[in-house]
Amino acid sequence: MKVLITGEVPAIATQIILKNGFEATSVPVRTVMPANELVAACKQHDALLTGVSDKIDAAFLQQCRHLKVIALYSAGYDRVDVAAANELKIPIGNTPGVLSNATADIAFLLILAVARKAFFLHNSIAKGQWKLPDPSVGLGIELKHKTLGIFGLGSIGLELARRCKGAYDMNIIYHNRGNNSTAEKELGARKVSFTELLEQSDILSVHSQLSNETRNLFNADAFNKMKAGAIFINTSRGAVHNEDDLMEALRSGKIWGAGLDVTNPEPMRPDNPLLNMPTVAVLPHIGSATKEAREGMARVAAENIVAGLKGQRLPQVVNPEVYMQS
Ligand code: DGY
Repeated sequence: MKVLITGEVPAIATQIILKNGFEATSVPVRTVMPANELVAACKQHDALLTGVSDKIDAAFLQQCRHLKVIALYSAGYDRVDVAAANELKIPIGNTPGVLSNATADIAFLLILAVARKAFFLHNSIAKGQWKLPDPSVGLGIELKHKTLGIFGLGSIGLELARRCKGAYDMNIIYHNRGNNSTAEKELGARKVSFTELLEQSDILSVHSQLSNETRNLFNADAFNKMKAGAIFINTSRGAVHNEDDLMEALRSGKIWGAGLDVTNPEPMRPDNPLLNMPTVAVLPHIGSATKEAREGMARVAAENIVAGLKGQRLPQVVNPEVYMQS
């Protein structure tokens, strides 16, 4: 059986696939292939390991219903029509866990960068604006004993909470559907309602999947309820926050600042006013961009492919519904 790999996925993925007796074709594209080309290529294969943001929508799935497994080279699965995949009984795999340290590091970096205006001050030096030492310039805020609020406390949020507890003895609160007993026992984290999360967090960090429930959730209403002077961090998906409303919350001084590794749309336009705000730090969606995380993601994606082709349950499955008897 043959596997199509799109994108520049580390070689370990192909090695695992070949070692298990399957064939692999790599298309090392840097951007998504036109939909018709992807469908045509998939028709020649039994499985797809998608290493770029290929849209796995209902039209694609209908035309590629022969695929035995689709493995994403990402933890996020908002580009997949999961309901359509369930209907067609196609298992979808993702890569959670292996990128948690890398992504938590980026969230932590953004918190500090926003608190101390680091990106803005760096740019001001490049613009020749560093004049005489002036104690009134560049004032930031400190993080010790602040309250970190996590929206969607999974493994990335847990790693961020560990960093914030260890470095700044922060008080941890979170909002989730279920309870995170590890965070509660280890860090004294407390589950709160969404409104309480908004009202009590000094730093509010988003780590949820993008879904119908979370799309545009951080809008004017949410920013208005946030604690005055808070920091908003998003390393999940840009569509979870409303950019115009965020801009207004920053301009009005309702919140202190924002750190974004994800924007809507991506890439962010270079003339976006957020890029010139002193208490804003933006990165180009690099949460999982470390050598270690990428290797881990390639390995997990390949293990998902191998399991799917062998007719076994995927080790990291997005839609366990496909294994339920109908
Ligand atoms: C993920 O794994 O979801 C990262 O955001 C890369 O897309």
